[in-house]
Amino acid sequence: MASINIVLGAIFIASFYLSGSLAFPPGHDEGAHPIGNGPISGLSTDYYKFTCPQADEIVVPILKKAIAKEPRIAASLLRLLFHDCFVQGCDASVLLDDAEEVVSEKKAIPNKNSIRGFEVIDEIKAALEEACPNTVSCADTIALAARGSTVLSGGPYWELPLGRRDSKTANMKLANKNLPPPNATLHRLIKFFQRQGLDKVDLVALSGSHTIGKARCVSFKQRLYNQHRDNRPDNTLEKSFYHTLASACPHTGGDDNIRSLDFVSPSQFDNSYYKLILEGKGLLNSDEVLWTGKDPEIAGLVKSYAENEQLFFEHYVNSIIKMGNINPLMGYNGEIRKNCHRVNQDI
Ligand code: HEM
Ligand SMILES: *[C@@H]1O[C@H](CO)[C@@H](O)[C@H](O)[C@H]1NC(C)=O
Repeated sequence: MASINIVLGAIFIASFYLSGSLAFPPGHDEGAHPIGNGPISGLSTDYYKFTCPQADEIVVPILKKAIAKEPRIAASLLRLLFHDCFVQGCDASVLLDDAEEVVSEKKAIPNKNSIRGFEVIDEIKAALEEACPNTVSCADTIALAARGSTVLSGGPYWELPLGRRDSKTANMKLANKNLPPPNATLHRLIKFFQRQGLDKVDLVALSGSHTIGKARCVSFKQRLYNQHRDNRPDNTLEKSFYHTLASACPHTGGDDNIRSLDFVSPSQFDNSYYKLILEGKGLLNSDEVLWTGKDPEIAGLVKSYAENEQLFFEHYVNSIIKMGNINPLMGYNGEIRKNCHRVNQDI
């Protein structure tokens, strides 16, 4: 029976690669890969059915252990998927260190002294390599870690499309260009998402990721002391919340002090992020402008998610699958990195 499965698996995979290579011949212009959800992306929820069926059973216990040690790590791992996918697609480019032909994205402004979780990715990847050598990509490892972290924090579960391959390049400049800054206006946030084929619903739903995790003072300090280059605070900040933040983040120094993005339930994936925004207690400018930015559709979604957690979860699942489908490398493109920190050395 086992050997029949292996043969069937080989046929299945061979036919997948053949059809994949016809659809996307090598050298195909990367910019033209389809973006968005659905089968058109070519990823598949049972991609590892025959080659590593136990992948998720390997990932989850490692996540559990890491989250028990430090609940924030769930947020950090979820954010890695975002910072991977918005920069040349979900290809694990974010994990590459500096090397002869690689300028690491870890040095880009939105990432520097900020993104974290690499040790957990390394631990998961090592366990996957031991069980299923040369099979599960670093890009899929990030996606599995993000899904597992969401679920273990009390958020929704989704059937995760898999089959991404890993890039042989990183792009620090593109990381600076494509990752939105926390002081962006609503108009610009919409543009950053549009560039990735994501719409207003995706922007509002995925911002709900800020229901877990933390931010450094430097990421929201402008709101406290000089919101509009007038040495005044952001007047959309609720007064008592402003005072709490100002005492944690002085005018000078303290840039690396941290505050929870959702102070009501910082490690629970729920809809309290949206409730806080309605009260003027969103931490980042990019959070609060979803409500105050004068876009009726976006403000309406914030209110709906604040009132209806089920709706938030439904939209979130749809949007995070869409985000995870941005420009995956497939077929003969990319590789399965052995070590997520560097491209394979061909011998
Ligand atoms: C809408 C545009 C977004 C902006 C401007 C933004 C910006 C930020 C900033 C500035 C931080 C804090 C970084 C620091 O101070 O070190 C942060 C944290 C975080 N972001 Fe976003 N983000 C956005 C969207 C997203 C999306 C789409 C996701 C995931 C799908 C996400 C997930 C997270 C998580 C989970 C954290 C906490 C990380 C931790 O505690 O380690 N963000 N974000
Ligand atoms: C956002 O912050 C950056 C860096 O501090 C600054 O150069 C930029 O002008 C700010 N943008 C807005 C809209 O305030």
